[in-house]
Order: sequence, then structure tokens, then C-alpha cells
Amino acid sequence: MKSTRQHLFHALVALLILVSPASLRAQDRFALVAPNGIAFSEIRGYEDWSVVAPSFRTDNNEVRVILANKVMIDSYRQGAPGAVGSFPEGSMIVKIGYSAVKSQSFAAALVPGVLKRVEFIIKDSTRFPATSGWGYARFLYDPLKGIFTPYGKDTSFSQECYACHTIVKDQDFIFTKYPSR
Ligand code: HEC
Repeated sequence: MKSTRQHLFHALVALLILVSPASLRAQDRFALVAPNGIAFSEIRGYEDWSVVAPSFRTDNNEVRVILANKVMIDSYRQGAPGAVGSFPEGSMIVKIGYSAVKSQSFAAALVPGVLKRVEFIIKDSTRFPATSGWGYARFLYDPLKGIFTPYGKDTSFSQECYACHTIVKDQDFIFTKYPSR
């Protein structure tokens, strides 16, 4: 038999779990879905993908790392986009953005500060005919709360992505090239 004290203790624990801010509980980022229906889980495992290239944005002081899945990396290595045509179906490319900060150990080095966002583009021509076969998704990260939120109020956000990426239409809408290593 449980004592009254044990019952009280369990009730208190249950109450604390209920009222604790969402931020104190670990978020399952892969449960999130962008307004156009693309789920964060579609790039599950991206943390281990190969690097295409880093980049640095001077106007908002951000360092980025761009990673791609194996299908797309293989295609890059074979000369896509260009020699071998465009990237194949199933290609996925992710950009992880961080604030750029001076290294605490060496001021001349700019290194990643806080995580700001994870965004990606995936190729599925049947699913995304309106944006030349590529589907766009962006998840903003709040470093204080430790949570991601989908970017965009409705499906129109991806037209914004597509419009700018059309600058590199002749590179199959992908800006980042694959440098030697
Ligand atoms: C105003 C222009 C602009 C807009 C809008 C834009 N991008 Fe980009 N994007 C770029 C540029 C430039 C790069 C390459 C340099 C960099 O920032 O690293 C890039 C790179 C990327 C990459 C890496 C692959 C590549 O093409 O090099 C992804 C993934 C990406 N963007 C996703 C998105 C998503 C998702 C959206 C919309 C929510 C979006 N972008 C909107 C300009 C834009």
C-alpha cells in the first residue's frame, strides 16, 4: 500500500511535469512539418551527411555549413550540375546557419556561435512540379528556448525561396559548388 505521503509526492511530480515550460522538455524536431507539408524527418540523419562546402554571409554575419545526402554528393563528384546534367531524384541538400563569433581562444578566427536555422531543399519532381522539382523547407532555431519552429505562414514561403534560387537556374537551382578537398 502506498502511503499518503507517496501519493502526494507522485501528484506533485505529475503537476511539475504538466506545468514545466515546453522548453525544459526535449523537443522532437522530427515531429515538425513546414507549412508546405515537408517534414523535418525527411532529412533524418543529416548530421552525418558529407560537407559540400562552408559559406560566410557578410550582411548578417553568419557562418553556414552545407551538407548533402549520398545521392547528391555522388552526383556532385561526377560533375553535376553540368557535365552529367542536373541532380537526380532523391537529392537532398541542407544548410545549417550559425551566428559568426570570434573564437574565444584566437580572436582572428571566426567560428560558429549559436545555431540559427536548419533549412533544406529536396528533389522530387512529381511532388514539387511548381518549383522545378525542388521542395523547400526551413526550421528556425531559438537558442534560448532550445526549440525549432517551421518558417512561413503558408505554402507561399517556398515561392520566396524558389524566386531567389532561380538566379542559379542553370545550376539546377543550387548555389553551392563542390570545391576540391
Ligand atoms: C534572397 C535569396 C535567397 C532566398 C530568398 C533563399 N535562398 Fe537559399 N541560398 C541563397 C544563396 C545565395 C545560397 C548559397 C550561399 C549561402 O548562403 O550559403 C543559398 C543556399 C541554400 C541552400 C544550400 C544549397 C544551395 O543552393 O547552395 C539551401 C538548402 C537553401 N539555400 C535553402 C533555402 C530555403 C529553404 C529558402 C526559403 C525558405 C531559401 N533558401 C531562400 C539565397 C537565397
